[in-house]
Amino acid sequence: MDYKRILVTAALPYANGPVHIGHLAGCYLPADIYVRYQRAQKRDVQFICGSDEHGVPITIRAMKEGKTPQQVVDHYNAVIRDSFAAMGISFDIYSRTSSPVHHATAQAFFKKLYDDGVFETRETEQYFDEEKKVFLADRYIIGTCPVCSNPNAYGDQCEKCGSTLSPEQLINPRSALSNAALVKKPTTHWYFPLNKYEDFLKEWIVEGKKDEWKANVYGQCKSWIDSGLQPRAMTRDSNWGVPVPIEGADGKVLYVWFDAPIGYISATKELTPDWANYWQQDDTKLVHFIGKDNIVFHCIIFPAMLKAHGGFVLPDNVPANEFLNIEGEKVSTSRNWAVWVHEYIQDFPDQQDILRYVLCANAPESKDNDFTWKDFQTRNNSELVDKFGNYVNRVMVLTHKLCGGKVPKWHEAAADDRDKALVADIRLARGKIENALEAYKFRDGLFELIELSRKGNIYLQEKAPWKEASGIEKGTFSDEEKIAAQQRIDNCLHLALQLTANLAILSNPFLPFTAKKICHLLKVVERMLDWENAGKVNLVNTGYPMRAPELLFRKIEDAEIEAQITKLKAGLMASTQTQEQAQSAAASEEASAETLKPEISIDDFNKVDLRTGTILSAQKVEKADKLLQLEIDLGFEKRTVLSGIALHFKPEDIVGRQVVVVANLAPRKMRGIESKGMILMAENAEGKLEFVAPLEAVNNGAAVK
Ligand code: 2FM
Ligand code: ZN
Repeated sequence: MDYKRILVTAALPYANGPVHIGHLAGCYLPADIYVRYQRAQKRDVQFICGSDEHGVPITIRAMKEGKTPQQVVDHYNAVIRDSFAAMGISFDIYSRTSSPVHHATAQAFFKKLYDDGVFETRETEQYFDEEKKVFLADRYIIGTCPVCSNPNAYGDQCEKCGSTLSPEQLINPRSALSNAALVKKPTTHWYFPLNKYEDFLKEWIVEGKKDEWKANVYGQCKSWIDSGLQPRAMTRDSNWGVPVPIEGADGKVLYVWFDAPIGYISATKELTPDWANYWQQDDTKLVHFIGKDNIVFHCIIFPAMLKAHGGFVLPDNVPANEFLNIEGEKVSTSRNWAVWVHEYIQDFPDQQDILRYVLCANAPESKDNDFTWKDFQTRNNSELVDKFGNYVNRVMVLTHKLCGGKVPKWHEAAADDRDKALVADIRLARGKIENALEAYKFRDGLFELIELSRKGNIYLQEKAPWKEASGIEKGTFSDEEKIAAQQRIDNCLHLALQLTANLAILSNPFLPFTAKKICHLLKVVERMLDWENAGKVNLVNTGYPMRAPELLFRKIEDAEIEAQITKLKAGLMASTQTQEQAQSAAASEEASAETLKPEISIDDFNKVDLRTGTILSAQKVEKADKLLQLEIDLGFEKRTVLSGIALHFKPEDIVGRQVVVVANLAPRKMRGIESKGMILMAENAEGKLEFVAPLEAVNNGAAVK
């Protein structure tokens, strides 16, 4: 289909905390690269985002900070908006779901579905806080985790062991608002019958998007649809959110996942009076950029809502990324294991493009990926500085040294095969980058950019205009030889400058700050960055003066990296200490009895394949205080297993020990090492770990039953 306009949305972040680099890598940076590219192509594109200001995450944060939800969203909306702006994320609008336009739009949407008889009402029993006189969302219910006995697990999740929970599973549930014990009361809500949209979703996604959508996105959608869709409540009992716009719905608000995606529509309304063209004309290409935790909402629930409403376009694509881990571990905002964007900007002022570069080069496009500060340094120093920056700098320096700082003439008759090959490389690079960006393969596109600068460096090296110049200087050349040598110098630097201009155009979507700097060096207006100019070799004119050379990038020193790693660890330590203090205080207050995990069947137990094995070798894992890397002989094979026992055992003391291994545990990568299995340990009263092992040695690989 030939699209007339493109509408790009990036997930509306909850205004309950700052954004970290995982957010950037997951959705905002790829969206920005895509939009900048489309703008350079002069296509009609709008880039929509804003704060998601409703829902439980906001009210929880307010509760924790002793503030009103409004104060929380006002604060974080500004923090997040500023972080994005500083990183060059170029939204056309950054709105808020607390805006009056949004409230009206979301209510009108709900009302239309209600009037059309789309919703089913259902009465269910839900936990009620008698003291505060409110129904409690799952997050407001606290109790003891049935899996790990954490006394402060939430009704939807235990943050200590990561288990997904329902309030019914909590032991001794109580209210997070008042600490009161809870009662169950009936309440009525409006349910969206997702089940009735199964056929539509099958046809549209399962059949229609198989070859178009990324495998990770398509796979998640298909498995949701295949497992059968259920009606879903679209309202909640709360006083924070968009009020349900019908009679008799006092104290009820729209479910945050009902109102938030409608936020894309309201923000477009705020942006332009032409909003309906973007949302209601078939020839709009709608693209939702999100992280993988948002897939079901953007691919299943929101499209079903749009379908039920009628008159809206559906997303053409939802190029969701996976997650970015930090230094081998999952990002955890509660444990403060994150690199915060506003802190990066403070610590590395004017170095936005390094982060943009590293996050794109290492983007979790098809699987979870790892950000490490070491990789940040290496990629900067050896790719941005040594390849891209070095090329541009050499060209500028040589132009000033050998050509008086002006673009030298192009002598067509003197052009050789090497020059022609570079011209071809420049043309080809445009095509390659274009194809990659159209296909949402941002890493590939960026790779081609660096590859082109690498080719530029090789070209300079081979042409070596400085050698030609010293040949002329020596005074041994005939007049003819002199002219020929000067023509070779001219051609080399003329072409090298054209390549520099191309690097500005091609880097602009990825590294907009750098592209601007190159325009400044070449003294060209930013209009040169229009994509139609990419691939051309007549961008800077003969005789045109350049500015004096300036470095595009600087090296990142070891000390800067060490400081970041120390900061990351210190943040984690501080947060762990406060959490542990809170937990031990709560534990002693409650004097909670040791609780068993919920009952399992023998079939559940039989799924676990326990085998004996012998530790063949053990060594510390670099930069991971707690991890030992073990080689374990399981009889039928040797395995690498990472175990968090480094604080309890010296590597040399445990070689030769027999252990019990969970042999069919899904492999997991930590610190770049894949761990295949887990060894069983028991904790004594002092918290010291002991191996669980057969009393008498048995064959390695024996099943433990
Ligand atoms: O996961 C989140 O941060 C959500 N606030 C994303 C919402 S996206 C859209 F639907 F608004
Ligand atoms: Zn738990």
